[in-house]
Amino acid sequence: MRQFLIAGNWKMNGSLAANEALVSGIVNGVPDGAGFRLLVCPPFPYLASVASQVTGSAVALGAQNVSEHDSGAFTGETAPFMLVDVGCDYAIVGHSERRAIYGETSEQVAAKFLAAQAAGITPILCVGETLEEREAGTTEQVIDEQLDAVLGAAGVDVFAAAVIAYEPVWAIGTGMTATPEQAQEVHRHIRARLAAQDANLAEKVQILYGGSMKGENAPGLLCMPDIDGGLIGGASLKASDFLAIAEAAAQS
Ligand code: 13P
Repeated sequence: MRQFLIAGNWKMNGSLAANEALVSGIVNGVPDGAGFRLLVCPPFPYLASVASQVTGSAVALGAQNVSEHDSGAFTGETAPFMLVDVGCDYAIVGHSERRAIYGETSEQVAAKFLAAQAAGITPILCVGETLEEREAGTTEQVIDEQLDAVLGAAGVDVFAAAVIAYEPVWAIGTGMTATPEQAQEVHRHIRARLAAQDANLAEKVQILYGGSMKGENAPGLLCMPDIDGGLIGGASLKASDFLAIAEAAAQS
């Protein structure tokens, strides 16, 4: 039985004061139940301060990105061990905003995935198609290319300690959520692609949905058989909104 993971990607939002209120609201409002885990991913400068707030709570800490390098002359980058050092458990890799705005390639994303994992961080590999790609009928090809960059570099075994997030680009920040059926279809495809190499392992991998998830649409998405949680942007910035999604996971 897979646990739900309800993850907040704060993107470039927050401040010391706002984060403190948000995190204490989340930590103090975690719903009862055992079938889910909560995660917050603040911007880099706030990781250590949020770490001190979530330590000992039911909320885990993650970063929004990570370098594929271990140390050295990489101005502006953050090494995987630094994330471990400040108390991170997870790192998002290959978010569509990183791919589209900063030109990250699938090969680079795969390198980040493996570097994070080597340091003991669980990578959350984001995959997803644009509207044009969906309309052209190439959704599965796009997802396969993004998944295969990791599968080809390191094989299926690395997914035993990783999370996948399906984030259709057209649903991110647009209020246009994929229907539960649309999301399930892609989640099933992702799991089947892993299962073709290792069926047992594929059954255990958490596959999150991301794209305008909120309290109202979370119950419908989370009851689909291959949706194991959410990667949430906008609705992770207010404790009550985030907790409404956590509540849906607790009830599912
Ligand atoms: P929204 O929930 O704001 O659509 O963002 C989704 C996302 O990109 C999470 O990584």
